[in-house]
Amino acid sequence: MNNGQNRRPEAAPARSKRKRGRSLKYVRRRDGLNAGYIIFAAVIVLILAVSLFFIFRGKAAGPSAPEQTGSETAEQTLPETEARRETFIEVPTADVAAGDLILVNYDHAYVFPEKDDLVNVYENKTDDFKVAYSYYMMDRHVLDVLISLTRELSETTGEDDLTVNSAYRSLEEQRQIYDEYTETWGEETAKLYVADPGYSEHHTGLAADLTLVRDDGTALPILQSAAYDEIIRLLRDNGFILRYPEGKKEVTRIETEPWHFRYVGLPHSLIIEKTGLCFEEYIAFLKNFTPDGNVLFLSTGGRLSSVPFEEAGSSGGGCAIYRAAAGTGDVTKIPVPDGADEPSVSGDNDGGFIVTVNFGASPARVTGVGDDVSAIIKTIAPSD
Ligand code: DAL
Ligand code: ZN
Repeated sequence: MNNGQNRRPEAAPARSKRKRGRSLKYVRRRDGLNAGYIIFAAVIVLILAVSLFFIFRGKAAGPSAPEQTGSETAEQTLPETEARRETFIEVPTADVAAGDLILVNYDHAYVFPEKDDLVNVYENKTDDFKVAYSYYMMDRHVLDVLISLTRELSETTGEDDLTVNSAYRSLEEQRQIYDEYTETWGEETAKLYVADPGYSEHHTGLAADLTLVRDDGTALPILQSAAYDEIIRLLRDNGFILRYPEGKKEVTRIETEPWHFRYVGLPHSLIIEKTGLCFEEYIAFLKNFTPDGNVLFLSTGGRLSSVPFEEAGSSGGGCAIYRAAAGTGDVTKIPVPDGADEPSVSGDNDGGFIVTVNFGASPARVTGVGDDVSAIIKTIAPSD
């Protein structure tokens, strides 16, 4: 069985541009008691304090006692109300189906957007990599990452034959590939290599099939590159995962595909590799981490642990990851831990939003998986 990319239509339908979920619009809010409410409350407290002061003073010393303000009492009340504040972000609930972390698989259809952010790979390519067909499109920010990592690959190893062998696929193109495979191999086998139309990661623009094409036209699997380890390291360290790894067929329902890479962003690619979870398992794993409970915390030193949401900001430098269920209205309001840098939000295409927030420098690696995290992983991936 080849990698499913050989017989490709020569032209893809034109696509309109759209903004993807990576740059989900959000509104950052200090919520709980807002400033107006606090001033109003302070005035009420002030009035009450002054009244009480005069009542009690009147009882104790009579009407001739000297005047005082109640400001001291009011000021003592404010820190308590400040402490109950919480920061929120607001995201359009419809964006639950958009972003770098959306799960698209046999039971999670891709929700095609009205606009996209696809760019032509060939028109933007460099001498550091190749493209099998000039019509290929890819999400703009993913192509930028690929351009950058292939430059490093080429400069450090001399490998410049890495080839994009499939990228974005329209519904029609996926159907064509599916039909061709079904005709050639039968539907049962076809389904192990080609996702049902509408359920392919290739619809997202976040996936790329990678191969090697030598200058004489010889096509080889990337495994045969002398720089294979470096290819894998660079992909992982730049936010890509091997989407259909060995031993996960029962979960993904797709055969091992050593050529299919999916962009999920950092630090998720690092965590997925270190924990040995496949993407389905990772998305399920993240459901353990919520604003009401603990977050998954990756320290700057590389250690993964599970820490209470409220303590994320006092856990030292690092990155907190958690999932918030999508709301029922047009907008979903998601709490953000105090002290966090600007959060990044992606839908998971499974009813929730995954929030990734840094505290100081973002972690560049994962050195170890803490006991509590290992225990949580075992509950969802007992075979690992
Ligand atoms: N080859 C992968 C599973 C797809 O068709 O999306
Ligand atoms: Zn693929």
